[in-house]
Amino acid sequence: MLCPNPFSLFCALLLCLPLAIIFTIITPTTTTTNGGAAYVPSSTTRKNKAAVNPVVLTTLGNQTNGINITSTTTLPASTPLPPPLTAEDDDEPLLRPAARVNPDPKSPRKLAFMFLTTTPLPFAPLWELYFNQTPKNRYNIYVHADPRLKYDPPFLGVFKNRVIPGSKPTRRYSPTLISAARRLLSHALLHDSSNYMFTLLSPSCIPLHSFNYTYDTFIRSNKSFIEILKNEKGARDRWAARGQHAMLPEVPFEDFRIGSQFFVLTRKHARMVASDTRLWSKFKLPCLKKSSCYPEEHYFPTLLSMEDPRGCVPATLTHVDWRGSHDGHPRTYSASEVGPELILALRRDKPRYGNDGIHDSDSSLIKRSDPFLFARKFSPDSIEPLMRIASEVMFKD
Ligand SMILES: *[C@@H]1O[C@H](CO)[C@@H](O)[C@H](O)[C@H]1NC(C)=O
Ligand SMILES: *[C@@H]1O[C@H](CO)[C@@H](O)[C@H](O)[C@H]1NC(C)=O
Ligand SMILES: *[C@@H]1O[C@H](CO)[C@@H](O)[C@H](O)[C@H]1NC(C)=O
Ligand SMILES: *[C@@H]1O[C@H](CO)[C@@H](O)[C@H](O)[C@H]1NC(C)=O
Repeated sequence: MLCPNPFSLFCALLLCLPLAIIFTIITPTTTTTNGGAAYVPSSTTRKNKAAVNPVVLTTLGNQTNGINITSTTTLPASTPLPPPLTAEDDDEPLLRPAARVNPDPKSPRKLAFMFLTTTPLPFAPLWELYFNQTPKNRYNIYVHADPRLKYDPPFLGVFKNRVIPGSKPTRRYSPTLISAARRLLSHALLHDSSNYMFTLLSPSCIPLHSFNYTYDTFIRSNKSFIEILKNEKGARDRWAARGQHAMLPEVPFEDFRIGSQFFVLTRKHARMVASDTRLWSKFKLPCLKKSSCYPEEHYFPTLLSMEDPRGCVPATLTHVDWRGSHDGHPRTYSASEVGPELILALRRDKPRYGNDGIHDSDSSLIKRSDPFLFARKFSPDSIEPLMRIASEVMFKD
């Protein structure tokens, strides 16, 4: 130790502090309840979220001691949050080559389905049916899953061996959810030069149409589908979440956008995300308070809106219902609610298109009516009623 007495004790303490923090972060009592792919309402007021929500935290990594974390443990609301889990920049070796892949996809074009999860996939049997309706050369599946979590049941069937290497800890209220999505995009770009459209999904998402219908919709489009909303309630707080002027000069408030994290990006835009360092240098900073900290809902819409707004359809095709939202989470359909009527009603609903000035003048947008292709959130036990109606309702177009 370099420190002379009498400071050595103090220095030792200083050295131990980070260790203590790391230890706190990997403490296995906390985990996420929503698969780590949290979508947060962009148009819903979140009141007292910290007070009413259980602490949802995904920790881990592959550091040590064989602690198994199941998807059922949740801390009571009163438990103080551990220190923010900051995002690392150690994905550069993955991102840099991904940013340089050929922008033109090889034929036949494929869809990349990217599942961001910290739990087993409750709807795996449904996805299995979905993917089995089509030849294997039309899609790829990628899973970002924390390696230290226990996934029971494990990823099997079409999900077998689809967890991307280098999956890392993710946690709500932190930029780690951005990192995980960028990792998925980069991995998919490098893995298959036929990947054309990149869809982000959570474990509580289900398909609303057949694979072929979805495929045709995406392959026909040369634009990304990503919700891009300007001047949403609370936008200024979200922009200033890292400090009053922390986002300047890279991200002026006028350029800040909000939208669902469940996007579908073109190959061109996936590359754009992999190559970005400018906005990431800001969005990777930890928030000062968590009540306005949803970086994954800000980074992607802001980046695409700044770099290529006309290459985007500013809407998400993953249906969600915020009307019955509870504790900051959207409505979760229970098994007893699931039936043909629900699926057909979700399909009939129309996406909300962003209105950020650029698109106001885009008359083609006003006429658009894109179909919802996925929906969330469904309780895990919905799998039974969903399987009963899958062939006759969901996969019939
Ligand atoms: C963790 O789970 C694995 C696989 O189920 C099991 O083999 C191992 O014994 C468990 N470890 C602990 C510490 O519970
Ligand atoms: C979906 O499209 C593929 C390729 O055209 C075809 O082989 C397959 O039979 C179709 N599946 C269904 C269920 O129509
Ligand atoms: C965890 O790390 C060890 C040693 O680095 C490695 O052998 C093992 O494959 C890793 N496990 C996972 C699930 O990544
Ligand atoms: C998308 O396709 C349309 C018509 O097919 C074309 O005019 C437009 O330039 C294309 N846009 C991009 C970004 O490739």
